[in-house]
Amino acid sequence: LNLPEHSYNIYVGQNILDSAGEILALDRKVFILTDDGVPPQYAKEVANQCKNAKIHTVCQGEGAKSFAVLQAALSEMLKFEMTRGDCVVAVGGGVVGDLCAFAAATYMRGIDFYNVPTTLLAAVDSSIGGKCAVNLDGVKNIVGTFYQPKAVLIDTNTLKTLEERQISAGLAESVKMALTSDKELFEIFEKKNPMEYIEEIIIRSLKIKKAVVEEDERESGLRKILNFGHTIGHAIEAEENGKLYHGECVALGMIPMCKKDVRSRLIPVLNKINLKTDYDGNLDSALKFISHDKKRAGDLIDAVYVDKVGEYRIEKTSPSEITLLAKETL
Ligand SMILES: NC(=O)c1ccc[n+]([C@@H]2O[C@H](COP(=O)([O-])OP(=O)(O)OC[C@H]3O[C@@H](n4cnc5c(N)ncnc54)[C@H](O)[C@@H]3O)[C@@H](O)[C@H]2O)c1
Ligand SMILES: [Zn+2]
Repeated sequence: LNLPEHSYNIYVGQNILDSAGEILALDRKVFILTDDGVPPQYAKEVANQCKNAKIHTVCQGEGAKSFAVLQAALSEMLKFEMTRGDCVVAVGGGVVGDLCAFAAATYMRGIDFYNVPTTLLAAVDSSIGGKCAVNLDGVKNIVGTFYQPKAVLIDTNTLKTLEERQISAGLAESVKMALTSDKELFEIFEKKNPMEYIEEIIIRSLKIKKAVVEEDERESGLRKILNFGHTIGHAIEAEENGKLYHGECVALGMIPMCKKDVRSRLIPVLNKINLKTDYDGNLDSALKFISHDKKRAGDLIDAVYVDKVGEYRIEKTSPSEITLLAKETL
C-alpha cells in the first residue's frame, strides 16, 4: 500500500504466521495484543518468533474498544518498559486491530504497529487503511485517529477456526467491494464456491481497498465508497445492539442501495453465503438511527448507490429518502 509517508507491505498466504519473524521486525520488545476469543496459539506463534514478547489478552467483543481497556493495555506497555523503538502486534479481528492501533498511535506519540488479522472481516477490510478508534458513551468509533500499520500479515490458515457466521459476515464486506468496484470478484461469488477462492477473494478485496486508501487516505471523498451499505447497515446494527454482526447488517444495508437488476443478482449471492436478505426486526425503529449517523453532512447523506455491478454513484440523499428505500426493499 503506497502512501506519501507511510507505505507498507501486505502479506497474504497460507501458513505464513510461522514466517512472522522473517517478515516483521520482531528483534525488539514486542507487545502482542489479542482477545480471549482468538485461539491463543496464534499470538503464541508470533511470540515464539520475537526477541522479547509480552502477550496481553483482552475480553472478546466490542466492549474491548473502550477507554478502560485501552488504558489497561497502555499501562501494561509502560510496565513492560517499552520505548519508541519497540512495537505492538495485533493478533485478532477488527476489535483487537482498532484497539491495538490506537494504543500504538498514542503510546509515546506513536510506535510501530503490525496487524495480523485473524477474522475474515479484518483480513478483507479493517486491517488496512489506518483507521482506528474506540467507542465512547455508547457511540461507536467516536474517538480515534489514522495510524497506518508498518506491515500486515494475513495467514489464511487462521480463518479455519472462525465460526461460520463470522465467515459470512466477513464475506459481506467483500461483496460490498465487488459491487462498487470489481465485477469479476462479484462473478466469483455468483459462480464459484467462495471458500475455495478465499485467498483470491481476500487479495481482490484488499486491492480495491488499497486503491481507495491510496487515493484518499483521510476519507475526504472517494473513501466514502467503502461505506456502501453502511448507512442502513449501521442503523440496523444499532437497533440490534450486538445481536447481528456488522457484516450481516451491511449485507442488509446494501440491498436498498442497488438498482433492481443489481438487487436481483445480489440477493442470491447473499443467500448463498448464508446472509439474511429480509430484516425481521423493527425496521421503523432501526431507521431512526439514520439521522444519528456520524457520517451525515448537514441534513444530507453522501449515499453510495450501485446501478450496475462494479460501478458506483455517490449522491447526496436525505435520511427520509433512504428510509423509504429501506422500507420498499427490506
Ligand atoms: N478500522 C477500520 O477500518 C475498520 C473497518 C471495519 C470494521 N472495523 C471494526 O472492526 C470490528 C469488528 O471486527 P470483527 O468482525 O473482526 O470482530 P471481532 O474482532 O470482534 O472478532 C469476532 C470474534 O471472532 C473471534 N476470533 C477472532 N479471530 C478468530 C479466529 N481466527 N478463530 C476463531 N475466533 C476468532 C474474536 O475473539 C471475536 O469473538 C468493529 O469494532 C468495527 O468497528 C474497523
Ligand atoms: Zn464495514
